[in-house]
Amino acid sequence: VLSATNIVIFGATGDLAKRKLFPAFYNLFIDGRMPENFNIIALGRSDHNDEYFRNYIKVNLEAFSRKNVTPEHWEAFQSHITYFQHQLDEENSYKNLNRKLLEFDSGFGVRGNRLFYLSIGPNFISTISNHIKNASLASEPDKDRIIIEKPFGYNKQSAIELNQLLSETFEEKQIYRIDHYLGKETVQNILAFRFGNSIFEPLWNHRHIESVQITVAEEVGVETRGSFYEQTGALRDMVQNHLLQILCMVAMEAPASLESDEIRDRKVDVLKSIRRIPADKVDHYAVRGQYGKGIINGVETKAYREEDGVDPDSNTETFVAAKFYIDNERWQNVPFYVRTGKKMKEKQSYISIQFKPLPHSTFSDTNPLSANRLIINIQPLMDIRLQFMTKKQGLSMALRPVEMIFDYFACKEDTPEVYETLLQDALEGDLTLFMRSDQVEEAWDVVTTIQEDWANKKAIFPNYEAGSWGPKESFDLVERQGHNWL
Ligand code: BG6
Repeated sequence: VLSATNIVIFGATGDLAKRKLFPAFYNLFIDGRMPENFNIIALGRSDHNDEYFRNYIKVNLEAFSRKNVTPEHWEAFQSHITYFQHQLDEENSYKNLNRKLLEFDSGFGVRGNRLFYLSIGPNFISTISNHIKNASLASEPDKDRIIIEKPFGYNKQSAIELNQLLSETFEEKQIYRIDHYLGKETVQNILAFRFGNSIFEPLWNHRHIESVQITVAEEVGVETRGSFYEQTGALRDMVQNHLLQILCMVAMEAPASLESDEIRDRKVDVLKSIRRIPADKVDHYAVRGQYGKGIINGVETKAYREEDGVDPDSNTETFVAAKFYIDNERWQNVPFYVRTGKKMKEKQSYISIQFKPLPHSTFSDTNPLSANRLIINIQPLMDIRLQFMTKKQGLSMALRPVEMIFDYFACKEDTPEVYETLLQDALEGDLTLFMRSDQVEEAWDVVTTIQEDWANKKAIFPNYEAGSWGPKESFDLVERQGHNWL
């Protein structure tokens, strides 16, 4: 049973709140997964009354909720929502918020838990954290929590400073740093697949695996986020967090238990073992790209440099491919290739595990490298495919590759939205799917030399067409070693 909770959303009139947070709370509510007593206190700058704000949420739920908005459910849910006018940088606003929280607590009859959700730009984290401290809003470490969206800093140093600053107000166990990829069903399943079976793990090492690839390709461009993206780029936006987290799930050792710190320790071990790319060899290990004009699904699309809020001479990358090595006993000399990009040919995220070729093949027509491969499709396909060779029906002894597939969609169970998973965990106090301070800092450390090298050198952009699979150098990166992007 979940304790009574006051959920405070900073930036409640923003995009994330309307598309993801309120729908997630609503769906958890319908499923009976919210605490019996809870309030959602929506903070925003403007002066709205509850009725106006609730109606705005209703319209957005109708557009974005996975479950239908029925009159009965809505009636019950809306009474939990309160709108509260608030100025992020005014002390008085926090005093008023405190009064409101105490009022709600007396309604609960106990000091409720407090969940502060920072659905705002990273520039405000320190302001809010300091005000929360000064107004003693999060004074109970066992009850009070803060959820922070990425980006968490923009390099290692800034992440260290941010962690330091948060630690003045919160204990580590109160801080929930979101990497929404960890909430994805197919990403969480990697651990179940690896450690819930006995047949894969014996093969899961450098003796049997030739290479690992992680691709997160997006069809969308930077949409309306041009000016944010200009300062960010794909390395910070995707590689430092989502791709490295997936890599950790593939590469980590078995945790001794499902305890959150145990799992996070094993991930940090991986990050620490990733061989740092030497500053003078960045070109050899990492490739950057930026999309030019092109055609996606038959529609002409503009170049990154023509997008709103983007410098016409921009040096920002919209594509990254990189090769990492993990210096430990399990993964010695196995390349981990990662790539991600915007305006790629199609939206497709997957992990591909290529097994080693046969030492000796009895069959002359076997392509020795591609015989065995395991594909874990993350999205939009959600499945696991094991590829192997079989005999082609017929009189001769010829082979052909086939696939054995487990498809999530074949199971009729409900797949929760990522934010439902993450918010439920935060309400329960389960930190497993959230980033610990050292995890974030190590992940920044892994990309530091790349960041510095790219910041210091002007790129020759654009270097890939929208609607393609990225720049030529990305293919060279894997082909140099006799591999292919799959
Ligand atoms: C976000 C990035 O973290 O992840 C976006 O900031 C990106 O640029 C998004 O589009 C991708 O998430 P998903 O869940 O759609 O794959």
